[in-house]
Amino acid sequence: MRDRELLASEVASQVAAHQPYGGVVPEVASRHHLQHAPRLLKRTIERAGISLGEVDAFAATSGPGLASSLMIGASLAKGLALGFGKPYLAINHLEGHLLSPFFSSAGGIEPNVSLIVSGGHTLLVDVHGVADYRIMGRTVDDAAGEAFDKVAKMLGLGYPGGPEIERGAAGGDPARFDLPRSMLHSGDANFSFSGLKTAVRYLLPKVSSADTRDLCASFQRAVVDVLVAKTIAAARVARRRLVTVSGGVSCNKELRAQMALGCDSAGLEVRFAESGLCTDNAAMIAFAAMLRLERGDSTPLTAEIDPNLALA
Ligand code: KG4
Ligand code: ZN
Repeated sequence: MRDRELLASEVASQVAAHQPYGGVVPEVASRHHLQHAPRLLKRTIERAGISLGEVDAFAATSGPGLASSLMIGASLAKGLALGFGKPYLAINHLEGHLLSPFFSSAGGIEPNVSLIVSGGHTLLVDVHGVADYRIMGRTVDDAAGEAFDKVAKMLGLGYPGGPEIERGAAGGDPARFDLPRSMLHSGDANFSFSGLKTAVRYLLPKVSSADTRDLCASFQRAVVDVLVAKTIAAARVARRRLVTVSGGVSCNKELRAQMALGCDSAGLEVRFAESGLCTDNAAMIAFAAMLRLERGDSTPLTAEIDPNLALA
């Protein structure tokens, strides 16, 4: 196992650029990538205290994601690989999230049931090891993070909605509003969050701004209850003793607390992505690339990006 020291991790946040629109605008995203990628590369190399020639391999996300943004990262990494005569690795965005809870652990990737909760995905995956994944379930409509973002928008809170709802829920009563826990007893590992979003919409005309705190707390608890119950059920089905949680929504402290409690009483161990590695970042992609490289993997420079790339 190689050293897993994180020499530098830089993120050029686009939150401010998309905030006025209340969501990600693809055109703004790709322009932002183009403007900031070279500067970000330079800064990362400087902070790491190395030269580009010392890098063993170059990796980029090849999907799923916005085509025009993926293309910029992949072109840059391919150019560097070609220029320095080093391997190129195309990494699945979801694999980056899925492996991130192991970032700081000394051992390898232990078998686990992985909950990936982001703005674009809600997935339960049975993980046997690196590159050995079986999808157990997914959302049939909105992703968990998407539900946070849409409900925040309805409540007039900012973007991205997850952290806004979490802040808005502080001190609120999570039992005040009786909101649906969709597909809780569906007997499979799938999720649905659009009914919950609609339930909040129907409540809005009946409540005042004084109720926002309780509404945020009740919504957050409804999402968390379903995520926790279904993850524990999936771990039982897959006969795994370890649960991992990653993706932007795994920043959420209520999710972390309830998942820890639930797993503890179910006799399961739980490991979360470190808070700095929950939302999209290049360090998790580099980590996945390192594990792939150790297996002898590399990607031909002719490989294309795939906005709809599947994990398994
Ligand atoms: O993984 P990520 O950065 O991007 C995607 O791959 O989609 O996840 C972004 C999502 C957004 O929907 C955002 O609202 C949500 O993660 N998020 C949170 C929190 N922080 C970010 N959701 C709930 N609570 C949070 N604290
Ligand atoms: Zn992501």
